[in-house]
Amino acid sequence: MERNISVTENGHLLLGGMDAVSLAKQFHTPLYVLEEDKVRSAMAAYRSSMNAYYDGKGLVCYASKALCCKELCRIAAQEEIGLDVVSLGELYTAASVDFPMERVCLHGNNKSLEELSYALDQKVGYIVVDGLTELETLSRLAKEKQVTASVLLRIKPGVDAHTHDFIRTGQIDSKFGFALETGEAMEGVLTALKTENILLKGLHCHIGSQILETEPFVHAAKIMMEFIRDIRDKTGVEMQVLDLGGGFGIRYTDEDDPVPYVEYLKDVSGEIKELCHQYHLTLPSVIIEPGRSIVGEAGTTLYTIGCFKEIPNIRTYLAVDGGMGDNPRYALYGSKYDMLLANRAAEAPSKTYTVAGKCCESGDLLGENIPLPEAKVGDILAVLSTGAYNYSMASHYNRNPIPPTVMVKDGTARVIIKGESLEDLLRNDV
Ligand code: LLP
Repeated sequence: MERNISVTENGHLLLGGMDAVSLAKQFHTPLYVLEEDKVRSAMAAYRSSMNAYYDGKGLVCYASKALCCKELCRIAAQEEIGLDVVSLGELYTAASVDFPMERVCLHGNNKSLEELSYALDQKVGYIVVDGLTELETLSRLAKEKQVTASVLLRIKPGVDAHTHDFIRTGQIDSKFGFALETGEAMEGVLTALKTENILLKGLHCHIGSQILETEPFVHAAKIMMEFIRDIRDKTGVEMQVLDLGGGFGIRYTDEDDPVPYVEYLKDVSGEIKELCHQYHLTLPSVIIEPGRSIVGEAGTTLYTIGCFKEIPNIRTYLAVDGGMGDNPRYALYGSKYDMLLANRAAEAPSKTYTVAGKCCESGDLLGENIPLPEAKVGDILAVLSTGAYNYSMASHYNRNPIPPTVMVKDGTARVIIKGESLEDLLRNDV
């Protein structure tokens, strides 16, 4: 499927009605650009489909690990969705904009005392407990504070989603959650039900990320519903909440053919409703936690091309003014991206390049065999679909400052995350 891109009359890439070349001039490169309409419409589409498919009992929690900052938390609040947070930093960001905490899920496989304590003080909607040690700690903390913690247990449903090993989490050999097959999950539920100051509201699972088919989600939902039935049969208690995590894939290149997310939701809800009927269970409140599919395709990174190195009969390197510091995903996972020249966006590709960053290591690449028109020094390279897991995974490697993020909408741009200055880099040095 061809990607829909907008181009100005003089052949410049348009993002949110803004000329990308002007953005690069005004804010300098590297520059993260985020299109507000795309973010909002993804949030709204998820919210309305979840409401429709779960009879008003659905909740979308944006997985803020994909891209967390105050403005995105504000937008999520305005779009009336919730948040999935996985650290004190993400929770603190949400709290700093008075995010409605009843719509927040706290995750983490090794939450600190400080994280658990802060989550209780903030009255977050759900703490997703990952193991028995955490359950004990949480119970003790909640007792000290004379509160009850609302808890979901993270279950490994044993579903093998076809994705990169590092971003696959639902299988038994994973650091996350209670395994179903070994009986650990049932033991966790029985323990949680009798643990003081713990209210076990339901279950959670997350099978992986960048999943491009519906079947693994439907399969996971089925396994979780069977487990809910088994819990009811054993204890008489019905789980009220089922959180099915995130993982819906997006389009990075032509090789990706994602299912429209409404389809995932339709198929999964169909399965859940059918099983509720079959097992005589009440429809639980269903939560989903999309991250990548909300911000991924809304983001584009702009770079300036600085130099070339032609290795005869092998490849031509094209080097840009950013790299693995602002986007480590090719170096980490071999993730592929579509790229184009923002100042000559209508020109057909005539050559392939290896796109290198400016960090001091050979693995600092953004892509290989990238088709582009014959590129020149000073051209603006746009890397598409960089909204998720780029800024949030950025580093200061080689003491390169982290670039700013601008939000674009209807031909206007505003900085939502400032770029770091050299002084910022020294801020914590003693
Ligand atoms: N919920 C839980 C519990 C998760 O662990 C994750 C992602 C999500 C939701 C959101 O998944 P999404 O809808 O964004 O796929 N750094 C990797 C991705 C790691 C995802 C980790 N967990 C990457 O750059 O591809």
